[in-house]
Amino acid sequence: MDSITLTVNGVPREAHGVQPHTTLLNWLRDLGLTGSKEGCAEGECGACAVLVARPAGDGGTRLESVNSCLVLLAALNGAEVVTAEGLGAPGRLHPVQRELAVRGGSQCGYCTPGFVVSMAAEYYREDRPEAEFDIHSLSGNLCRCTGYRPIGDAALALGGPSEDDPLARRREGPAPTPQATHLTTPEGEFHRPTTLAGALGLLAAQPGAVLLAGGTDWGVDVNLRHSRAAVTIALDGLPELRTLGWNADHVEIGAALSLSEVERRLAGRVPLLDELFPLFASRLIRNSATLGGNLGTASPIGDSLPVLLALDARVVLASREGEREVQLSAYFTGYRRTRREPGELIRAVRVPLPLAPRSGFYKIAKRRFDDISSVAVAVALDLDGDVVRSARIGLGGVAATPIRALATEEVLNGRPWNERTVREAARVLRGEGTPLDDHRASAAYRAAMLEGALLKFYFEKTAREVTL
Ligand SMILES: Cc1cc2nc3c(=O)[nH]c(=O)nc-3n(C[C@H](O)[C@H](O)[C@H](O)COP(=O)(O)OP(=O)(O)OC[C@H]3O[C@@H](n4cnc5c(N)ncnc54)[C@H](O)[C@@H]3O)c2cc1C
Ligand code: FES
Ligand code: FES
Repeated sequence: MDSITLTVNGVPREAHGVQPHTTLLNWLRDLGLTGSKEGCAEGECGACAVLVARPAGDGGTRLESVNSCLVLLAALNGAEVVTAEGLGAPGRLHPVQRELAVRGGSQCGYCTPGFVVSMAAEYYREDRPEAEFDIHSLSGNLCRCTGYRPIGDAALALGGPSEDDPLARRREGPAPTPQATHLTTPEGEFHRPTTLAGALGLLAAQPGAVLLAGGTDWGVDVNLRHSRAAVTIALDGLPELRTLGWNADHVEIGAALSLSEVERRLAGRVPLLDELFPLFASRLIRNSATLGGNLGTASPIGDSLPVLLALDARVVLASREGEREVQLSAYFTGYRRTRREPGELIRAVRVPLPLAPRSGFYKIAKRRFDDISSVAVAVALDLDGDVVRSARIGLGGVAATPIRALATEEVLNGRPWNERTVREAARVLRGEGTPLDDHRASAAYRAAMLEGALLKFYFEKTAREVTL
């Protein structure tokens, strides 16, 4: 096949000659839909935001905002996309556009279509109480001239969609299902299988293929480093990687679920992950980014990794030979190297149950939201009375791989959970790993932050409870 079909602003389109590395943004702009802008091409500014129609849990459709600069067009066969132009036009402004206009929420206008789209995603969120607007839904959108106050005012002034609003009504019908795709082009091959067996067969034949999940890392490589893959295998159409289930032993989270989807479906049942989500990039990124992708990069500063280490998670690897489980603490073998073999993909992550009753996540970065960690610390603590039955501490940003703070854990295990023990353990934590001096933080600062994180966990989360 050399073409794919998708619906843009309600109009079915056939895209011919699709190349595996063409982004949705570039294709939309070539089509004349230049409302979506390129500000950064790396997921940071939100000027390129568009809505995509995705399945909601109840058989209906959810309209989610994504960065079109990071989405590959080839991965959208059968999809439905709405751009700022599809929301309204001069003379018939969408309520979001109207509020932005009347409240002075736009000056040069470069960022405005992106804000319009992110605000529309929140406007149409099915469980949004009409009088509320989650301002963090705009955390992935930057404005360089208006200032955020009038934009926030516009968002907070919004009511809910009327009954005859076409997009509100669109939510009642089913979302499009992923279409199998196979493109062979001069630039390379692109596959979007719809079964795990199909994906594993392709991977066995092409072990060097790039696996594509949400594309929030791969899209940056494509745009800024001009990376090109001879073979790309998209994983978003595999139902086996999109499940989330519980049994007595563990909760299993599919590797290709977006972080927003994981957050919704866990609904607070894994509190440590719940602390992670709001600190992981922006809503725009979390609507695409996956746990499989975060593990796939094996970055020492991937934020889910210290959390999953503290949760004692296991990685489920699948290949044509079957499945195997690897303890996450033994998964990383060196800088961006893991025990995943050629021909294997990450199918899921398993978090053992029961969960440690007390936990905390500390991400130290230059900005509180939407920034890369200098250091990240996750703690999971189980007490027997006031004695530590087990403490697990995951660290990011202090070594070539995410690590467990084993020496600190040893100090804590079997000891009374009190200020004396915690201060002693925190001093040991200070010396864990081999933190570097770099442009984000000095080694000394990182070490101090490690110590501070454990003390913070003790004083903010447990001291009162244990003393009482
Ligand atoms: C603006 C911006 C902000 C960001 N902020 C953060 C942040 O705060 N914290 C953070 O940790 N990261 C952050 N990231 C990085 C990125 O969003 C995460 O690493 C994300 O989890 C990647 O998931 P993905 O599905 O988009 O991966 P993709 O880009 O699709 O893939 C990433 C890598 O993983 C591999 N891969 C994907 N799925 C699998 C699988 N199932 N099995 C094996 N390999 C696989 C791919 O081949 C690729 O090498 C940010 C990125 C951007 C652009
Ligand atoms: S162009 Fe900046 S996020 Fe896409
Ligand atoms: S209005 Fe100019 S960047 Fe936002």
